Amino acid sequence: MPISVAIDGPAGAGKSTIARSAASRLGFIYVDTGAIYRACALACTQAGITPENEAAVREKLTQLTPELRFIEGVQHILINGEDVSDRIRTPEISAVTSAFAAMPCVREFLLGFQRDTAQRQNVIMDGRDIGTVVLPHADVKIFLTAAPEERARRRAAELEAKGQPVVFDEILRAINERDKADMSRSTAPLRQAEDAVLLDTSSLDAKAAEDAVIALIKEKCGGEICG
Ligand code: CDP
Repeated sequence: MPISVAIDGPAGAGKSTIARSAASRLGFIYVDTGAIYRACALACTQAGITPENEAAVREKLTQLTPELRFIEGVQHILINGEDVSDRIRTPEISAVTSAFAAMPCVREFLLGFQRDTAQRQNVIMDGRDIGTVVLPHADVKIFLTAAPEERARRRAAELEAKGQPVVFDEILRAINERDKADMSRSTAPLRQAEDAVLLDTSSLDAKAAEDAVIALIKEKCGGEICG
């Protein structure tokens, strides 16, 4: 049986950075499930479909075939054969994804896809409901979090590095809104699984957080893995 590591937590907690580098050290595949939700939101948005129109979303989903490709360890998300990895990262898509992700039909559509991916190889999978819903029997479950101000600061630095305009208060507001939407939805809300280890990265840099994650994985999986 492949090993599965579930990392859940709110926006900007550092999940993707930490999961990606930990996976590369261990030779696991890093699966960013947020990208799959973003891709569904992008496909609906491009077709002019909003989350209020459930029938249209359902119909659209029947026409979508998501695919993950791992090229030199980097995940690419394809929808109906088209690589949308870059186009899903705009602030507009970030803002609408939570509303699509709250829809039971969207979550149901993506559940089997995520489970199949984890069945094929050793994975570190990050998201909001991986430890609670997608992989309830994951070998290791980590709930990664940090104070909202610290998460907003990291997001701002990320955008700044990409040369994008940064208004700190806007970023903090968007993060708080997304947390609220993700935690309060009735289907698969963001919450710590009972058997997950809580890791607060507020005062940890990326390397220290990555080391803590690797140490947890080794502790739970013992001699089976190296890295
Ligand atoms: O990377 P970032 O924290 O900005 O977000 P993301 O992981 O790309 O996820 C974008 C949105 O997708 C989240 O705010 C959630 O609403 C939704 N999502 C989800 O509901 N379940 C997941 N497993 C992953 C993402």
